[in-house]
Amino acid sequence: MYFIANWKMFGGFSSLNSLNKVIKFLRGFKNNKIVKIIYCPPSTLINAMSKKLKNTKIEVGSQNCHENENYGAFTGSINSKILKDAGAKYIIIGHSENRQTGENDELINKKIKSALKLNLRVIFCIGEKLVEKKKKITKRVLKNQINLGLRNIKNKNKILIAYEPVWSIGTGLIPKSNELFNTVTFIKKILKNNKVLYGGSVNPKNINQLKQINNIDGFLIGGASQETKKFIDIIKKTYI
Ligand code: PGA
Repeated sequence: MYFIANWKMFGGFSSLNSLNKVIKFLRGFKNNKIVKIIYCPPSTLINAMSKKLKNTKIEVGSQNCHENENYGAFTGSINSKILKDAGAKYIIIGHSENRQTGENDELINKKIKSALKLNLRVIFCIGEKLVEKKKKITKRVLKNQINLGLRNIKNKNKILIAYEPVWSIGTGLIPKSNELFNTVTFIKKILKNNKVLYGGSVNPKNINQLKQINNIDGFLIGGASQETKKFIDIIKKTYI
């Protein structure tokens, strides 16, 4: 199971101290061989974090990247090459918070290709908006995001899918268990060999419900991942 911490635009260098607890927890955890923890902090922390986690099994990822795989005159941007150099092994691409501010499927497709060219793993986010859910077009939306986002990408084995309904991110709401099971089954029918994670308001309370859904391969955790205790609780409870 994957547990991916998406810190979003939170955290400074002092936040790295909170990882001590997670490192210690993982060392003593009886399921540590089957747990994969990945931290995606703000870009400024990637290098320091990957150094700190060097001798652990915890890996570091970025929350986005520029689509150009080479260096270039793109003021303020950071691409996969720079992120890899800093220590990132994964890149979250297509997060709804970036789709909302203008990233379209075509751009997301370019970003995914650029990350794969550098041999990085991709956490590809897809999800329907509330209006789309109400219109009952969730499957169509997801299929479209997958087809366009992964267009002309033959080797998909470095891609993890994060199913994140937009209406569940940061709202405290999660899908009904049967709906979530069906949606993940639908995604896995399209992408037969890819892991599918769930993201959106995952917390230590609702993890007991979410862990029962047996086709989910892990969780992308935003808000709750910023508090070490909550993050560890989520992992512990998944295996109780
Ligand atoms: P949340 O965010 O857990 O705070 O809802 C999840 C995400 O945006 O990846």
